[in-house]
Amino acid sequence: MASISDIDKNKLPNHVAIIMDGNGRWAQQHNKERIFGHQNGVSSVREVTEAAAEIGINYLTLYAFSTENWNRPKAEVDALMGLLVSTIHSEVETLNKNKIRLWAIGNLKSLPANCYNELMDAIQQTSKNTRLTLVLALSYSAKWEIIDAVKKISEKAKKNEISTKEIDEKMFASSLCTNGIPDPELLIRTSGEQRISNFLLWQIAYSELYFTEKLWPDFHKEDFFEAICDFQNRERRFGKTSEQIKVNNKQ
Ligand code: IPE
Ligand code: IPE
Ligand code: MG
Repeated sequence: MASISDIDKNKLPNHVAIIMDGNGRWAQQHNKERIFGHQNGVSSVREVTEAAAEIGINYLTLYAFSTENWNRPKAEVDALMGLLVSTIHSEVETLNKNKIRLWAIGNLKSLPANCYNELMDAIQQTSKNTRLTLVLALSYSAKWEIIDAVKKISEKAKKNEISTKEIDEKMFASSLCTNGIPDPELLIRTSGEQRISNFLLWQIAYSELYFTEKLWPDFHKEDFFEAICDFQNRERRFGKTSEQIKVNNKQ
């Protein structure tokens, strides 16, 4: 099991994204309702956020609720929204104490009003913090985000504010809700599933993917450090040859 001392502080990812999966199966293993799993998942959120801040990661994005999750039974959706409101409310103080800035991406207007308001309050109250930016993906899906970006760009083109020639990767990226946030170098998914489930499709074009069997409520600081160590042992080639990378590293 990895510990903080195994991590090379000079090779840290700037941004780590996590698909927090497996709460329902964790509850099942404990003979409890699914919401019990979500409640216990909150402690993993707290631990991993602290771990990321401790080692000096600048951005941590957590997939908390997808567009597709709206299709779950109403009782589970309501319970998740309730949990979100109470967690955001109770964590603001700790976020400020740890100098963590809260941010959110997704179709936030589709959240229940009390949830949206609580979120906006917490974002505002933590806006001056500079240590780590914690991004919650809520009512988020990458296809929704991409279509939304296409709409914004075509509106501008229609009004002749931009020409088609100007549309490039930079402009497209700045029309996504992750505008201003660097792409994640590392994407972690818990629970053994090896899929992306409509998360950050554009932004993970060159991310390293890390899958673990651990269910989200069982994912602790050491598991996070282990994922970081695994990342640090990979060679990121970006289409080049291994030799080219080695020469560059020596320079
Ligand atoms: C992840 O756990 C949390 C959310 C998607 C909100 P799940 O609820 O998907 O747990 P499993 O995958 O059913 O075990
Ligand atoms: C992905 O998990 C969404 C979140 C973690 C919020 P799901 O459990 O919803 O994904 P699928 O259904 O297994 O693809
Ligand atoms: Mg799941």
